[in-house]
Amino acid sequence: MNLAERSKKSIWHPFTQMQIADDPIAIVRGKGSYLYDENGKAYLDAVSSWWVTNHGHAHPHIAQKVSEQVAHLEHSMLAGFTHEPAIELAERVLNHLPEGQSKVFFSDNGSTAVEVAIKMAVQYWHNQGQDRTEILAFEDAYHGDTFGAMSAAGPSAFNRPFQPYLFTVQHLPVPIQNAEDHFLQVLEKALQSGRVACFIYEPLVLGAGGMFMYAPELLNKAIAMCKAYQVLCIADEVMTGFGRTGKWFASDYCENKPDIICLSKGLTGGTLPMALTTCTETVYKAFLSDDRFKTFFHGHSFTGNPVGCAAALASMDLMEKQETWERIDAVCQLHSEQVGRFEKLAAVSNVRHRGTLFALDVNTGGETSYFNDLRDWLYRQFIDRGILLRPLGNTLYIMAPYSTTKEQMMEVYQAMEQVLEQVKV
Ligand SMILES: Cc1ncc(COP(=O)(O)O)c(C=O)c1O
Repeated sequence: MNLAERSKKSIWHPFTQMQIADDPIAIVRGKGSYLYDENGKAYLDAVSSWWVTNHGHAHPHIAQKVSEQVAHLEHSMLAGFTHEPAIELAERVLNHLPEGQSKVFFSDNGSTAVEVAIKMAVQYWHNQGQDRTEILAFEDAYHGDTFGAMSAAGPSAFNRPFQPYLFTVQHLPVPIQNAEDHFLQVLEKALQSGRVACFIYEPLVLGAGGMFMYAPELLNKAIAMCKAYQVLCIADEVMTGFGRTGKWFASDYCENKPDIICLSKGLTGGTLPMALTTCTETVYKAFLSDDRFKTFFHGHSFTGNPVGCAAALASMDLMEKQETWERIDAVCQLHSEQVGRFEKLAAVSNVRHRGTLFALDVNTGGETSYFNDLRDWLYRQFIDRGILLRPLGNTLYIMAPYSTTKEQMMEVYQAMEQVLEQVKV
């Protein structure tokens, strides 16, 4: 039995209808921007394996730092104890985060970073005896798969079975072109209740919701409005963090800064699961008290795991190199040069890019949804060509590791062009 057959016998794969899905591709090795399967076929990983692999696969610097750490101190709990890797990581991340961030809370993945952020914001008000319990978020947002994150995202096919169990969140319209004022009006009206605890948002790019992109000026206004009503702003930078939008963080594009930030995915360069929720001193101080009931009662077994911290520190070493930013800038430039090439295609609309992210919609004449049949056809076309692109319904996007060369990027654009030319409108 090969690995794919063994896998199907024992593994329940994520986001996969196991009855009708193609056999999984068994990956045995990764190097740079490539993954290699058990038959030796190479796949250019143009989605950074679910948006995590920033510097390429099996990066030697990260591998070395992880192996040194695991032989030295593999784990120690973070309640009542602390350690150098966690301290250094907190210090270094805070150094790069937007102004005002002061404390770092560790967890394990993007969804838990969001759960921590929402709990922090809600308890911030509770600890001060204020009746602020309402939460605002974008409709079509995606914040993860845990219950709090699903509640924030709003109703969708993904969380339909769980609707009765999700808490109430007020959803704001996505600020599509020419409807920006409408979004701001709805936001202001919601804020006027005086009971809003927080607004959680994906800054500049709503990722899994279809790579929807909106302007920093608009976000800046929205944050200013929230601040005028003392509402906490939570920037979910799980996807956008660590260079994805062309700056360290998407929040860097705005003058007004969030109160709480969620980070994960690229934090460890995609090597180990780890997440951070960071906050301002003002948020942190609302938890300081002689009253033990004002404690933030949250913590996972692997909170601040030293090996995860070592991976994140090694990834920070790479992020702090001039060379990495030159590569990021080169990808941003390449994306902007390719827009015209795709706009020409009959089946393509809404070509867009922000930093290292590039996206377009494929017109089918039918409904645009994640469950579009076109999605599976597109996916297989690219897999056959040795390129890993995983469309979100009829939205096709590129989010390649920063290790991807110009030639490799050109290969991806060319494959996209060839495949999209075949789509009948
Ligand atoms: C913006 C955003 N927040 C949260 C998450 C959830 O992260 P994870 O899958 O690590 O739980 C994701 C995942 O795609 C995301 O894009």
